[in-house]
Amino acid sequence: MILRNIAVLLLGALLPLGGAPALGPSNGVAGTWTFSGAPPFPGLRMMQIGVKAGKATGTLTTEWYGPMPMHDLRIQGKVASFGIQNGNPRLPMKTWMATLQGKHQMQVVGDIWEEHVDLVARRGTARDAARLRFQVQPLPALAKLPSDGLAPTPPMGWSSWNRFAEKIDDPTVRRMADLMVSTGLRDAGYVYVNIDDGWQGQRDARGVLQPNPKFPDMKALAAYVHSQGLKLGLYSSPGPRSCAGFEGSYGHVETDAQTWASWGIDYVKYDLCSGEGIFRTPVELQAAYLAMGQALRRTGRPIVYSLCQYGRDRVGRWGRDVGGHLWRTTGDITDEYATMARLGFDRNGDSADAGPGGWNDPDMLEVGNGGMTPEEYRTHMSLWAISAAPLLMGHDLQAMTPETFALLANPEVIAIDQDPKGIQGRCVRKEGAIEIWSRPLADGSVALALFNRGEVEAAVRFEAADAGLAEFLSLRDVWAHRSWETSTATATLRPHGVLFLRARGPHR
Ligand code: GLA
Repeated sequence: MILRNIAVLLLGALLPLGGAPALGPSNGVAGTWTFSGAPPFPGLRMMQIGVKAGKATGTLTTEWYGPMPMHDLRIQGKVASFGIQNGNPRLPMKTWMATLQGKHQMQVVGDIWEEHVDLVARRGTARDAARLRFQVQPLPALAKLPSDGLAPTPPMGWSSWNRFAEKIDDPTVRRMADLMVSTGLRDAGYVYVNIDDGWQGQRDARGVLQPNPKFPDMKALAAYVHSQGLKLGLYSSPGPRSCAGFEGSYGHVETDAQTWASWGIDYVKYDLCSGEGIFRTPVELQAAYLAMGQALRRTGRPIVYSLCQYGRDRVGRWGRDVGGHLWRTTGDITDEYATMARLGFDRNGDSADAGPGGWNDPDMLEVGNGGMTPEEYRTHMSLWAISAAPLLMGHDLQAMTPETFALLANPEVIAIDQDPKGIQGRCVRKEGAIEIWSRPLADGSVALALFNRGEVEAAVRFEAADAGLAEFLSLRDVWAHRSWETSTATATLRPHGVLFLRARGPHR
């Protein structure tokens, strides 16, 4: 960040200080160029190009990503071409072109994320440059926050995003809270009611973020949710904008944490979104998450802190240090088997990082949303439970079938997820489409899940050694609630199916 600030200052020094801009070796391309009426994404404010000793540098300043450095800036005739990257390591650099039209206009064309930009910028003055400058915020030095004892087992609850996205509102949240109580889901362990992206409105004159009109009174909503024996969660971003384009916490971290605490918020999901263009190095990224971790601690309110930056920079290694109780390890889940399986089987974090107080989060549940078969949803739940994953339901409780309830509220499956030892299970054997996962539990028994990721039925032989046991004394099918004594173990698994067991026997 410091280096980048210096670069921005240097660039400022290279730019003409108002009045008639010098033309010279930059062919008139150098200077400050301002945009007006640019579309909200990425919210182009200005372009700055400077040339010194034949070397050109520049930035594009946007609402979403702040000042974005131009890469490989070349000026040929009236055209400047440069690379722009929004900080997402998976997106390629895109080439942009700025073409001088007359002396005081530039046509700027390029792509960013899924947006094609084709805009005219006008020559600006030093005063414009000062007015449009992005206020870069200081970050704390890296530090380790001590454990606060929250989330001794993976958090359980419901989140609005998977089913309602931006369409969430106060009455729906209340209905979901009511249904969590009346259906028995609260008593099964699901206590957080989390409002994801889409509650944010504008900041008032003092910079306090107000909810949008769909949430007329957040404090009253929190009181209602608490009166039901539940807890309320909210969502924000360390960047200027959330992923759905709402106001983020950039520059308002302390105020936002204080505001949420004053409303009675119990859980905050902090989603990188536009911050990926601002916190580009691992240190900046950690510091941005630490800033909110520290601010939440300073409120004095116990608030579960959920990091969401899609698993970048080995977040499991530092998630706890910044105050996180869970951290997303993956991109977004969708309601289909292939994505769920990719995240749960292949992309979830290192089991060594998880344990009481800090959990790998392969994303929220899709159970009950209709895009997978009952067998696939059983695999989804079993995989999340053996992985000690947070269980955040993502369906519409108003339309819940008894089958969905049975999948979500099975006490034996939940007991494995919530096992107090908090060891994340892992794959111990793979044969073709078959994966055997094992998880040691607090009472000495072992959760063993046999998964068939293939498209055809498969027979599988498994052994006590898969569970770290010398022999099986008993096996219990936790979905069927049926136990048997056995020494041999074979199973037939349906396509995308699972056999989920609790095994007992002497340890090896
Ligand atoms: C990102 C997150 C999702 C959800 C949306 C909201 O994509 O990964 O879980 O919070 O943002 O916009």
